[in-house]
Amino acid sequence: MSAVYLLAIDQGTTSSRAIVFARDGSIVGSAQREFRQYFPAEAWVEHDADEIWRITLAVCRDALTDAGVAANDIAGCGITNQRETTVIWDRATGRPVHRAIVWQDRRTADWCREHGSDEREAWLQARTGLLLDPYFSATKIRWLLDNVDGVRERAEAGELAFGTIDTWLLWQLTNGRAHATDASNASRTLLFNIHTQDWDDELLAFFGVPRALLPDVHDNAADFGRIDADHLDAAIPIGGMVGDQQGALVGQACFEPGMVKSTYGTGCFLVLNLGREAVTSRHRLLTTVGYRLNGETTYALEGSIFVAGAAVQWLRDALHLIEQAPETQAMAESIDGTDGVYLVPAFTGLGAPYWDPAARGAIFGLTRDTGIKQIVRAALESTCYQTRDLVEVIGDDAVTPTELRVDGGMVANDWVCRCLADVLQIPVARPGVIETTALGAAYLAGLQVGVYDSLAEIGALWQAQQTFAPQRDAAAMQGLYEGWLAAVQRVRSG
Ligand code: G3P
Repeated sequence: MSAVYLLAIDQGTTSSRAIVFARDGSIVGSAQREFRQYFPAEAWVEHDADEIWRITLAVCRDALTDAGVAANDIAGCGITNQRETTVIWDRATGRPVHRAIVWQDRRTADWCREHGSDEREAWLQARTGLLLDPYFSATKIRWLLDNVDGVRERAEAGELAFGTIDTWLLWQLTNGRAHATDASNASRTLLFNIHTQDWDDELLAFFGVPRALLPDVHDNAADFGRIDADHLDAAIPIGGMVGDQQGALVGQACFEPGMVKSTYGTGCFLVLNLGREAVTSRHRLLTTVGYRLNGETTYALEGSIFVAGAAVQWLRDALHLIEQAPETQAMAESIDGTDGVYLVPAFTGLGAPYWDPAARGAIFGLTRDTGIKQIVRAALESTCYQTRDLVEVIGDDAVTPTELRVDGGMVANDWVCRCLADVLQIPVARPGVIETTALGAAYLAGLQVGVYDSLAEIGALWQAQQTFAPQRDAAAMQGLYEGWLAAVQRVRSG
């Protein structure tokens, strides 16, 4: 029998990646390219959707070359993506009407403030599991309808299409034959009712979004169409589509209620499998679609932190304290502690569970002895403390995790994994493949095209490469965590 391969497209906030996986989940070849970030005004973030499409296609070709695999040997393709980022394009020409508005963009903060009330938030949360925040797609769509000439009229006439990046890439890959998304991405728009699993007319009316703009919503493993042979020399079936954080939940094989993963990229997203019950958070965590298979929805509770790896980038690019991210490990290891220094990386406000867009970052506890190492270590520790903030409230909302599966670039750093285990006082498991987001998309495509029969079969492929047990004393860690909580209080706006 000839080998079976799956292609995963992982379209992230700063780069596009394509990975060719073998059936056992190992990486056979990959390619990655960064693309331009646009910051046209304070707290605005845009992407050029055409550039994203061009480089994504290029990395697919490069990954096949790197793997030495012909497109014909790819059984299926899965797409995973930065979520919420909003594109509107012309159905006739495939041209975007404006640059994509990125999930980090806060331009609609005033609209959210003006239209938010406790009652309204409760109404939105009950239907969508989300909050009224610029993070999600609905107010970004509304902004485009209100601010780009002719867009509202053309949208109402059915001439335009909306999509998050998954939908945009699917449209391009199929040369406009498919306008679809999946339930996990739909659940991040504020327009999708997570209980009825459909676009919700009352939500559409509230945000002023015409239904004619919206894509069809499929299961995460479904027949999304085929990549046009013009693009990759073979009509590869697209069998999986999933938002990146839910993709990591699948890639980490968190298939049982109570299992939890945390992904450390630009930000950190902790996602807990809730099973069939869409638990409503009392702590402003998000209830979201984990995955939907054969029409059955598995819900998830998510804590979103906006700055994790981005703090290390800031140490490198803005402060020039390090040249490369991996240097941080030796620096953190070389000292016993930060001597009371805390860095709160609220560069774009605070995400869960605080949701304070006006908070800003700070470093506390500086003395004449403070040096680069203390600041670097405080930046790494901030990621661990923020994770603990989420674990504390998720325990109160649903279940207290007994183990955390971690992935993403930042957990290549052993010190971060050890610190996480100490701060959380639970074991932290790092799998062999830390590209779990892409792996999840590949698994979903593999389920659809028959490479795998069941989630159980996929779950059996998961293996910890290393598990980090807590080493430091619980009482001492509690004291350090309380110092963190005090520091957070000092940066909050309210
Ligand atoms: O919700 C935003 C998230 O999907 C972005 O993930 O990894 O592209 O920063 P990432």
